[in-house]
Amino acid sequence: MNNSNPLKTISRTSSSVRETELLAQQLAVLVEPGMVIGLNGSLGAGKTCFVRKFAETLGVEPNSVNSPTYVIVQHYLGDYLLHHFDLYRVETEDELEEIGAEELFEGQGICLVEWSNRFTESLPEDRLEINFLSTGEEAREIILNAYGDKSSIILGKLTASE
Ligand SMILES: Nc1ncnc2c1ncn2[C@@H]1O[C@H](COP(=O)(O)OP(=O)(O)OP(=O)(O)O)[C@@H](O)[C@H]1O
Ligand SMILES: [Mg+2]
Repeated sequence: MNNSNPLKTISRTSSSVRETELLAQQLAVLVEPGMVIGLNGSLGAGKTCFVRKFAETLGVEPNSVNSPTYVIVQHYLGDYLLHHFDLYRVETEDELEEIGAEELFEGQGICLVEWSNRFTESLPEDRLEINFLSTGEEAREIILNAYGDKSSIILGKLTASE
Protein backbone atom coordinates (compact mmCIF):
# COMPACT_ATOMS: atom_id res chain seq x y z
CA MET A 1 0.00 0.00 0.00
CA ASN A 2 1.96 2.97 -1.25
CA ASN A 3 -0.65 5.63 -0.78
CA SER A 4 -0.92 5.30 2.99
CA ASN A 5 -0.33 8.32 5.19
CA PRO A 6 3.22 9.56 5.73
CA LEU A 7 4.94 8.54 8.99
CA LYS A 8 6.56 11.92 9.35
CA THR A 9 6.06 15.31 7.73
CA ILE A 10 8.03 18.52 7.97
CA SER A 11 7.66 21.75 6.05
CA ARG A 12 9.99 24.56 5.13
CA THR A 13 9.59 27.86 3.36
CA SER A 14 12.03 29.10 0.75
CA SER A 15 12.21 32.67 -0.46
CA SER A 16 14.99 32.18 -3.03
CA VAL A 17 16.83 29.62 -5.13
CA ARG A 18 19.62 29.86 -2.57
CA GLU A 19 17.30 28.74 0.26
CA THR A 20 15.98 25.82 -1.78
CA GLU A 21 19.58 24.84 -2.53
CA LEU A 22 20.45 24.99 1.15
CA LEU A 23 17.73 22.45 1.92
CA ALA A 24 19.02 20.23 -0.90
CA GLN A 25 22.52 20.37 0.60
CA GLN A 26 21.25 19.56 4.08
CA LEU A 27 19.42 16.52 2.79
CA ALA A 28 22.23 15.34 0.52
CA VAL A 29 24.69 14.99 3.38
CA LEU A 30 22.21 12.76 5.25
CA VAL A 31 21.23 10.52 2.37
CA GLU A 32 21.82 6.76 2.39
CA PRO A 33 22.30 4.22 -0.40
CA GLY A 34 19.05 2.95 -1.87
CA MET A 35 16.98 6.01 -0.98
CA VAL A 36 14.13 7.02 -3.24
CA ILE A 37 13.08 10.66 -3.25
CA GLY A 38 9.98 11.77 -5.16
CA LEU A 39 9.73 15.43 -6.18
CA ASN A 40 6.39 16.95 -7.05
CA GLY A 41 4.94 20.38 -7.70
CA SER A 42 3.91 22.40 -10.73
CA LEU A 43 6.14 23.29 -13.69
CA GLY A 44 8.94 25.57 -12.56
CA ALA A 45 8.34 24.95 -8.87
CA GLY A 46 11.99 24.04 -8.21
CA LYS A 47 12.31 20.25 -8.50
CA THR A 48 15.27 20.24 -10.88
CA CYS A 49 16.86 23.14 -9.01
CA PHE A 50 16.75 20.97 -5.89
CA VAL A 51 18.15 17.90 -7.67
CA ARG A 52 21.00 19.92 -9.20
CA LYS A 53 22.27 21.15 -5.83
CA PHE A 54 21.63 17.77 -4.20
CA ALA A 55 23.78 16.09 -6.88
CA GLU A 56 26.47 18.77 -6.73
CA THR A 57 26.74 18.25 -2.97
CA LEU A 58 27.51 14.59 -3.73
CA GLY A 59 30.26 15.50 -6.18
CA VAL A 60 28.34 15.58 -9.47
CA GLU A 61 29.06 18.31 -12.05
CA PRO A 62 25.91 20.49 -11.67
CA ASN A 63 25.75 21.42 -15.37
CA SER A 64 25.03 17.78 -16.19
CA VAL A 65 21.79 17.96 -14.20
CA ASN A 66 18.82 19.12 -16.26
CA SER A 67 15.48 17.80 -17.53
CA PRO A 68 15.93 17.27 -21.26
CA THR A 69 12.78 16.60 -23.25
CA TYR A 70 12.02 12.90 -23.73
CA VAL A 71 14.81 11.61 -21.50
CA ILE A 72 13.10 9.66 -18.73
CA VAL A 73 16.13 8.88 -16.60
CA GLN A 74 19.67 10.18 -16.40
CA HIS A 75 22.48 8.67 -14.34
CA TYR A 76 25.19 10.60 -12.55
CA LEU A 77 28.16 9.26 -10.64
CA GLY A 78 29.29 11.11 -7.54
CA ASP A 79 29.81 9.76 -4.02
CA TYR A 80 26.86 7.55 -4.95
CA LEU A 81 25.25 6.52 -8.19
CA LEU A 82 22.28 8.85 -8.75
CA HIS A 83 19.30 8.10 -10.99
CA HIS A 84 17.36 11.24 -11.95
CA PHE A 85 13.92 10.52 -13.37
CA ASP A 86 11.49 12.91 -14.98
CA LEU A 87 8.13 11.15 -15.36
CA TYR A 88 6.25 14.16 -16.75
CA ARG A 89 5.88 12.64 -20.19
CA VAL A 90 5.67 8.99 -19.19
CA GLU A 91 2.26 7.62 -20.11
CA THR A 92 2.24 4.00 -18.99
CA GLU A 93 3.75 1.61 -16.45
CA ASP A 94 5.20 -0.30 -19.41
CA GLU A 95 7.36 2.69 -20.34
CA LEU A 96 8.72 2.73 -16.80
CA GLU A 97 9.39 -1.00 -16.94
CA GLU A 98 11.25 -0.63 -20.24
CA ILE A 99 13.85 1.62 -18.65
CA GLY A 100 14.27 -0.78 -15.74
CA ALA A 101 12.80 1.59 -13.16
CA GLU A 102 11.81 -1.17 -10.76
CA GLU A 103 15.38 -2.45 -10.50
CA LEU A 104 16.68 1.08 -10.00
CA PHE A 105 14.10 1.77 -7.26
CA GLU A 106 15.18 -1.42 -5.47
CA GLY A 107 18.92 -0.91 -6.03
CA GLN A 108 21.67 0.75 -4.02
CA GLY A 109 21.77 3.98 -6.02
CA ILE A 110 19.83 7.06 -5.00
CA CYS A 111 16.70 7.75 -7.05
CA LEU A 112 15.42 11.29 -7.50
CA VAL A 113 12.05 11.14 -9.24
CA GLU A 114 10.42 14.28 -10.63
CA TRP A 115 6.64 13.89 -11.02
CA SER A 116 6.68 10.67 -8.95
CA ASN A 117 2.99 11.20 -8.10
CA ARG A 118 2.08 9.98 -11.56
CA PHE A 119 3.30 6.47 -10.65
CA THR A 120 2.96 6.18 -6.89
CA GLU A 121 2.07 2.49 -7.16
CA SER A 122 5.44 1.75 -8.76
CA LEU A 123 7.46 3.37 -6.00
CA PRO A 124 8.82 1.57 -2.94
CA GLU A 125 6.89 2.15 0.24
CA ASP A 126 9.86 3.58 2.14
CA ARG A 127 10.53 6.81 0.33
CA LEU A 128 10.71 10.54 0.83
CA GLU A 129 8.36 12.76 -1.11
CA ILE A 130 9.03 16.44 -1.47
CA ASN A 131 6.26 18.73 -2.64
CA PHE A 132 7.09 22.18 -3.94
CA LEU A 133 4.33 24.74 -3.86
CA SER A 134 4.86 28.11 -5.55
CA THR A 135 3.43 30.78 -3.28
CA GLY A 136 4.97 33.78 -5.05
CA GLU A 137 7.50 34.56 -7.76
CA GLU A 138 10.37 33.29 -5.63
CA ALA A 139 8.47 32.02 -2.61
CA ARG A 140 8.03 28.27 -2.17
CA GLU A 141 6.40 26.10 0.46
CA ILE A 142 8.32 22.82 0.61
CA ILE A 143 6.66 19.86 2.33
CA LEU A 144 8.73 16.74 3.04
CA ASN A 145 6.87 13.49 3.72
CA ALA A 146 8.52 10.25 4.88
CA TYR A 147 6.63 7.05 4.11
CA GLY A 148 8.80 4.51 5.91
CA ASP A 149 11.19 3.98 8.81
CA LYS A 150 14.42 4.73 6.95
CA SER A 151 13.13 7.92 5.39
CA SER A 152 11.58 9.01 8.72
CA ILE A 153 14.99 8.69 10.37
CA ILE A 154 16.51 10.88 7.65
CA LEU A 155 13.84 13.55 8.20
CA GLY A 156 14.46 13.35 11.94
CA LYS A 157 18.17 13.95 11.34
CA LEU A 158 17.34 16.87 9.04
CA THR A 159 15.35 18.53 11.81
CA ALA A 160 18.08 17.83 14.34
CA SER A 161 20.79 19.31 12.09
CA GLU A 162 19.10 22.71 11.96
N1 LIG B 1 12.67 29.70 -4.07
C1 LIG B 1 12.95 29.08 -5.25
N2 LIG B 1 13.31 27.78 -5.27
C2 LIG B 1 13.55 27.16 -6.43
N3 LIG B 1 13.49 27.74 -7.65
C3 LIG B 1 13.12 29.03 -7.70
C4 LIG B 1 12.85 29.76 -6.50
N4 LIG B 1 12.52 31.04 -6.84
C5 LIG B 1 12.59 31.10 -8.16
N5 LIG B 1 12.96 29.91 -8.70
C6 LIG B 1 13.09 29.65 -10.15
O1 LIG B 1 12.12 28.69 -10.48
C7 LIG B 1 12.62 27.86 -11.52
C8 LIG B 1 12.59 26.40 -11.07
O2 LIG B 1 12.88 25.62 -12.19
P1 LIG B 1 13.04 24.06 -12.12
O3 LIG B 1 13.54 23.64 -13.45
O4 LIG B 1 13.81 23.67 -10.93
O5 LIG B 1 11.52 23.62 -11.94
P2 LIG B 1 10.89 22.16 -11.98
O6 LIG B 1 10.02 22.06 -10.79
O7 LIG B 1 11.95 21.15 -12.18
O8 LIG B 1 9.97 22.25 -13.28
P3 LIG B 1 9.56 21.11 -14.35
O9 LIG B 1 8.32 20.46 -13.82
O10 LIG B 1 9.31 21.91 -15.58
O11 LIG B 1 10.71 20.15 -14.49
C9 LIG B 1 14.04 28.31 -11.83
O12 LIG B 1 13.99 29.17 -12.93
C10 LIG B 1 14.43 29.07 -10.57
O13 LIG B 1 15.36 30.09 -10.83
MG1 LIG C 1 12.30 19.67 -13.64
